[in-house]
Amino acid sequence: MTRRTVRIAVNGVTGRMGYRQHLVRSLLAIREQGGLDLGGGDVLWPEPVLVGRREYALREIADRHDLSEVATDLDAVLADDSIDIYFDAQVTSARVEALKKAIAAGKHLYTEKPTATDVAGALELARLAQDKGVKHGVVQDKLFLPGLLKLKRLVDGGFFGDILTVRGEFGYWVFEGDWQDAQRPSWNYRAEAGGGITIDMFPHWEYVLHELFGRVTSVNAHITTHIPQRWDERGKQYAVTADDAAYGIFQLEGGVIAQINSSWAVRVNRDELVEFQVDGTHGSAVAGLRNCRVQHRAATPKPVWNPDVPLTESFRDQWQEIPDNAEFDNGFKAQWELFLRHVALDEPYHWDLLAGARGVQLAELGLRSSAQGRRLSVPKLSL
Ligand SMILES: NC(=O)c1ccc[n+]([C@@H]2O[C@H](COP(=O)([O-])OP(=O)(O)OC[C@H]3O[C@@H](n4cnc5c(N)ncnc54)[C@H](O)[C@@H]3O)[C@@H](O)[C@H]2O)c1
Repeated sequence: MTRRTVRIAVNGVTGRMGYRQHLVRSLLAIREQGGLDLGGGDVLWPEPVLVGRREYALREIADRHDLSEVATDLDAVLADDSIDIYFDAQVTSARVEALKKAIAAGKHLYTEKPTATDVAGALELARLAQDKGVKHGVVQDKLFLPGLLKLKRLVDGGFFGDILTVRGEFGYWVFEGDWQDAQRPSWNYRAEAGGGITIDMFPHWEYVLHELFGRVTSVNAHITTHIPQRWDERGKQYAVTADDAAYGIFQLEGGVIAQINSSWAVRVNRDELVEFQVDGTHGSAVAGLRNCRVQHRAATPKPVWNPDVPLTESFRDQWQEIPDNAEFDNGFKAQWELFLRHVALDEPYHWDLLAGARGVQLAELGLRSSAQGRRLSVPKLSL
């Protein structure tokens, strides 16, 4: 068994995503399983170098997980030839500059979404990475969630017949921060810091729709800010400058219509924080993060509209749960493993900076559609 080390600069590791999903649940989880088996007796061993602005915070994380290397000088890290991959989970507004430096330094790169806050910036990154010949990947974690994997299984198996519509509901109440602390960082509510639910969530909806149902060809969105004042991490009141709800209608190649509501000002009356209902001629499904339930046309009830008579059937009980039939790994880790195989073995990988740019494009066009009050077509992006 030969152990090959891959050194990864992890920037933004003190943040929610950087720490929990990427360091602990992905890179350290790969180490806990003995590394990534590359076949032929080779094992890839990720060696994270924790990068950030506050040395004491990085050192504290390193000590907690028996890691040794921390760094506060990104330029020095990128100048280090022994670093193979740059990973970015910083606040969105800090991303483009850091990714450009990493590309210039010839590092392979993996990054959280959105890759930029506008499509021009996102495409420029994709072009720079292509010209430099580095490998690149963008987090598209929802594709690797059990609920959506089951949904994809149904699509691939032809369960739906002709797919007509997709309805997505995403969101939960994010506390304002005065009488209860907000459960999301305050930069999410400041446009100048890269915040806003559209730039956060439309990139996810772009790849979910694209990969399961067809490329998005038009967007019609109504985007707003429901909660205009919030309180930050220090308890200081601030004016919200970013959108906190986005109501979008998307037309897809092949004719499917998708509607997705995204909101941080909604109380959850669903089984999961995001759910997609798919209706087709032969059957329907409701998929969340973990679960997926279906109703075949043969088992579809025939309700008759009569508000004068109390309901005698429970519609929710008429759905059937899809079994796992497989073991599902953490979605972030599953995608990390595919990216590491892409780097180490040159295996194909299509969730790249161009795919990331499509997500940013949909967010940008969604915001423009809302500002202009009209439906906009979504041109195909290429480099
Ligand atoms: N894939 C997903 O499902 C998912 C979910 C949430 C967030 N995200 C993305 O991950 C990124 C990080 O989000 P998060 O929720 O972990 O944020 P966070 O605020 O918890 O973490 C941000 C990180 O960036 C660092 N940082 C660097 N420059 C900064 C600056 N100028 N101001 C403040 N912090 C700075 C912070 O120290 C911290 O390590 C965002 O781009 C976000 O869009 C992705």
